[in-house]
Amino acid sequence: MKRKSFLTAAALMAAAGSRAGVRRQFMQMPAETDDEQYWSALRASLFPIENGRIFLNNGTMGITPYPVLSALQNGFEHAASKGAYPGHTDDLQKAIAELIGCDFDEIAITKNVSEGINHACWGIPMSKGDEVLMTTHEHAGGCITWLHRANMEGIVIKTFALGKTANETLENLQKAVTKKTRVIAVPHIPCTIGQILPVNEICEFAINRGIVTAIDGAHPLGMIRFNVKEMGCDYYSGCLHKWALAPLGLGYFYINRKKLDKTRCTHVAAYSSNEFNMAATPPTGGKLVDNAHRFSYGTFCGPMYEAGLEALKLYKKIGPERIETRVRALAAYLQESLMALGDKIIMLTPTEAKSRGAQIAFRINNGNPKASSEFVTSLYSKKITLRYVGENGVDCVRVSTHYYNSREEIDTLVSEIKKVLG
Ligand SMILES: Cc1ncc(COP(=O)(O)O)c(C=O)c1O
Repeated sequence: MKRKSFLTAAALMAAAGSRAGVRRQFMQMPAETDDEQYWSALRASLFPIENGRIFLNNGTMGITPYPVLSALQNGFEHAASKGAYPGHTDDLQKAIAELIGCDFDEIAITKNVSEGINHACWGIPMSKGDEVLMTTHEHAGGCITWLHRANMEGIVIKTFALGKTANETLENLQKAVTKKTRVIAVPHIPCTIGQILPVNEICEFAINRGIVTAIDGAHPLGMIRFNVKEMGCDYYSGCLHKWALAPLGLGYFYINRKKLDKTRCTHVAAYSSNEFNMAATPPTGGKLVDNAHRFSYGTFCGPMYEAGLEALKLYKKIGPERIETRVRALAAYLQESLMALGDKIIMLTPTEAKSRGAQIAFRINNGNPKASSEFVTSLYSKKITLRYVGENGVDCVRVSTHYYNSREEIDTLVSEIKKVLG
C-alpha cells in the first residue's frame, strides 16, 4: 500500500469515534480503488452492518448508509413537525438523469423495477401473435408482466440462452429473432448469474430492425457506469435500492422521448395531467404532461426522494469509477479463488472480464443435489448472507460484492465452501 493512502486510512480509523469526521476525511482521499483500509474505514463510518456480519447479497437489497437513513428520518420529521406536504419536485429525476445520461424529463420515479417494466410492457401497442424476445434467466419482476400480457392478449414470449461471452449472447439473441419480433425485453444484468449483457450491441441490432427495446436495469446503477443514450434503448427500468444504496422501495423508469407519445399510459392520476374539470359538461381531462412525469402520479414519499438523492450524492462523492473498479475487482478475486478449488465448483458467471460485473454465481458439485441451497441456508446461521437462485432451474449460489465487502470476507466465504466440497 502507498504510504500516503495508508496514512489517510489510518487517520480515518483513528477518527472512527466520530462518523461525521470520518465522512469529511474520506472525501479527500486519493482515488486509489483497491486500498482495503480505505474501504474498511468507509464501511465502519458509513454502514450500520453489525460487527461480524458478512453481507454478500447486495443483488437483493443494498445496505442503507447512515447519511441516507438520516435524510429519511429528517424528511419524515420535517413533514410531521411542520405539516409539510412535499408537493412535486424534480431533483431526484435530475440526479438520476445526470448519472444515466438522459434528460430529466425522460425519467419517472417509481417504487421499484417491476413498476417500470409494467409501464413499458402495457404501454407498447402490440397485437395477438406479436413476439417478445427474452432470456431464460429473467427475474419474476422482469417476466411475469410479459407472461401475463401473453395470457391476456395472446402476445408470444420467446426465449434465448445466455452465452459464455458477450458475442455468444448477442449471436444467440440474433438467431432467435423472427419477422414477428416486436420487442426485445432483456435484463442488462440478470439476477441469476450476474453477467453483463452487451446491451449497446443488442439495442443497435434492434434499432436496425425496427424492434422496440425494454431493458430491465435492476442492477447496474451504483455498480457499473452506463449511458442510456449511447445504449439507444427505448425503455429502461431500474431501482436505487440495490447497488445505489437507497432505502427499499425506490425505482425509476426511463422512456426515450421519441417513444413518449407512442406509449400508452395505462395508470395516471395527479401530476400526470395539469388539466381537468369535472364541472364542465361533459367533464374534460385535457392532455397528459409532455414528459415522463405522466408515469409518476399521486402522493409520493418525499422523505424517500430525499434519501434517494442523498444516496446518489454519496455515490458521486466516492466516485462511480472508483466504485466500479472496486466491486468488479472483488468479484474477480472471488471468481479466481473459487476456480482454484477445482471441478467441485461449477462456475456459471462468465470469466470474460467485460461480461463479469460484481456478482458471481456457482453451483456446488459435491454429489448432493441440494448442496447449493443447503449451503446458503447453513451460512445464514453463521451470519453470512448469500442468495440461492432456484428460479428457472438455475440452482446456484449467488454472491454479490459491494464496496463495503472485503477480501478478508471473501476468504472466509471460500474457506466455508471448502468445508462442504469434501
Ligand atoms: C434482474 C431483476 N429484475 C427485476 C427485479 C425486480 O425488482 P423490484 O423488486 O425492484 O421490482 C429484480 C429484483 O431483484 C431483478 O434482480
